[in-house]
Amino acid sequence: MVETMRILGFAGSLRRSSYNRALLNAAIELAPESMEISIFDLASIPLYNQDIEDQGDPADVKAFKRAIAEADGLLICTPEYNFSIPGVLKNALDWASRPAKTSVLRGKPVVVMGASTGAFGTARCQLALRSVFAFCNMHPLNYPQVLIGHAGEKFDSSGRLIDEETKGYISDNLKGFAVWVRILQEGKKVVDNKK
Ligand code: FNR
Repeated sequence: MVETMRILGFAGSLRRSSYNRALLNAAIELAPESMEISIFDLASIPLYNQDIEDQGDPADVKAFKRAIAEADGLLICTPEYNFSIPGVLKNALDWASRPAKTSVLRGKPVVVMGASTGAFGTARCQLALRSVFAFCNMHPLNYPQVLIGHAGEKFDSSGRLIDEETKGYISDNLKGFAVWVRILQEGKKVVDNKK
């Protein structure tokens, strides 16, 4: 029997009718059978402040870090703000990236999808996120990508993804991510056995 892969998903938008929150829900439905996606809501993560961190992580930050640590991989669904990463998402990643040398993000497989109302489907945000992943020593899936432009035409008014082609991209992406996570897990086992 194939072991279930636990993926933690979070969205870079707090908007109630966010396309990216809707995208997370679509991903849950389109995930391969071996993959279970649970959602963490970033709304409760406070603004990063090292003075607060020095006194100990706030409870919601602790919960976020624990959820990341327990996950086999991360799925980020995010809009692009001003050609870059929305503050909500960057702030959450900043908290999770600490302490730098032992952060829960290190070695974590991650995949990004994004929906925007513009034409380029969050391409520049996804590129900017790759710098963050590099510093944090995470392992992003390169391809296939999910870049959803003109999101208003792809989701209905209740937030359901209605575009079949986009569903196919998401499904292919998650299949690829499942393989990527397994490759990294198997590689880690080989390295650990040689220690
Ligand atoms: C945007 N939007 C946007 N879109 C884009 O394609 N490139 C961009 O750089 C930006 N910049 C931007 C900045 C800010 C502050 C906002 C609020 C919006 C539009 C964006 O794609 C649109 O609002 C999406 O609907 C946001 O995603 P959610 O909230 O629906 O998930």
